[in-house]
Amino acid sequence: MKQVLSLVVSNTEVMPGVHLIWLESPQIASLAQPGQFIMVRCGEDTLLRRPLSFHSVVMGRFAVLFTVIGRGTQWLSQRQTGDILDILGPLGNSFTLPNTPQEILLVAGGIGFAPLRFLAEEANRQGNRVTLFMGVPKRSKLLPSPILEDPLGHELFAAFHNIFRVTEDGSEGYKGMVTDLLVDRLDKVDRLVHIKDTTQVFACGPLPMYKTMSGLPLLKNKPVQVSLEVRMACGRGFCYGCTIKTKHGLKKVCADGPVFELDDILWDELNSL
Ligand SMILES: Cc1cc2nc3c(=O)[nH]c(=O)nc-3n(C[C@H](O)[C@H](O)[C@H](O)COP(=O)(O)OP(=O)(O)OC[C@H]3O[C@@H](n4cnc5c(N)ncnc54)[C@H](O)[C@@H]3O)c2cc1C
Ligand code: FES
Repeated sequence: MKQVLSLVVSNTEVMPGVHLIWLESPQIASLAQPGQFIMVRCGEDTLLRRPLSFHSVVMGRFAVLFTVIGRGTQWLSQRQTGDILDILGPLGNSFTLPNTPQEILLVAGGIGFAPLRFLAEEANRQGNRVTLFMGVPKRSKLLPSPILEDPLGHELFAAFHNIFRVTEDGSEGYKGMVTDLLVDRLDKVDRLVHIKDTTQVFACGPLPMYKTMSGLPLLKNKPVQVSLEVRMACGRGFCYGCTIKTKHGLKKVCADGPVFELDDILWDELNSL
């Protein structure tokens, strides 16, 4: 883990309220693994750094994709090319890809897509075939189609072999929640992309998505890794502010996670997060 001053290479609003920032930092980029995150100091008036996942890493640069939520991300969204950011990272554990190349399934709820692009790129590099289920409330919340390229010329969805889009109102793709697609269509998708009981599933999304997934009999026999988003203060295991209950005792999301096995987390205890 390093604390580094990183140069803003570009900052693009890829859709309303969602920004893609590329940063130059060979020290951090060379260490980053899919699933890990950085803590960004967002101006002088925010006491705590903000956690953001690695979205993509290319030749000494890395990207973060984020939704503007409050003071910190608002400040970040206003950074310009040439600005300097104070970054701490890489932090946390990472997703574990299969030892031998296979078909893998990625499930994204909303901005949960952010860390899954880096995972898909690495999985692709290792010879895996990557399918993405991506769920949002409505069409206007879907990330730009493959037509839109980011400023560095890397297409957002290039690493995915199959993409299934899901909208709650049915305005594009499959109608329902992304978890409905898991239930209703996995059989069909199975035939399309050869998903088996041993297929590794990776997910990133909001807590209700994980709670639904944890109750799906369909996923009981499948290995499922999820990335948890909880409020963090230090991000380095010092303050215990991000502690959760798991089948293996108390765990700190920032240091033991953010990636956990779906089955290991006591989801009913996570109501207050
Ligand atoms: C490991 C990890 C990775 C993340 N990766 C991404 C990402 O790639 N893209 C993205 O859009 N968001 C990501 N988030 C969520 C992101 O950190 C929050 O949206 C952000 O901190 C909000 O800060 P704010 O100052 O804009 O909002 P405020 O609401 O003003 O934040 C106030 C405080 O709450 C914390 N906070 C608020 N919402 C969250 C949240 N959902 N998770 C954790 N802390 C929160 C902030 O860090 C801050 O301390 C991630 C969270 C974690 C824990
Ligand atoms: S945020 Fe301080 S221990 Fe995790």
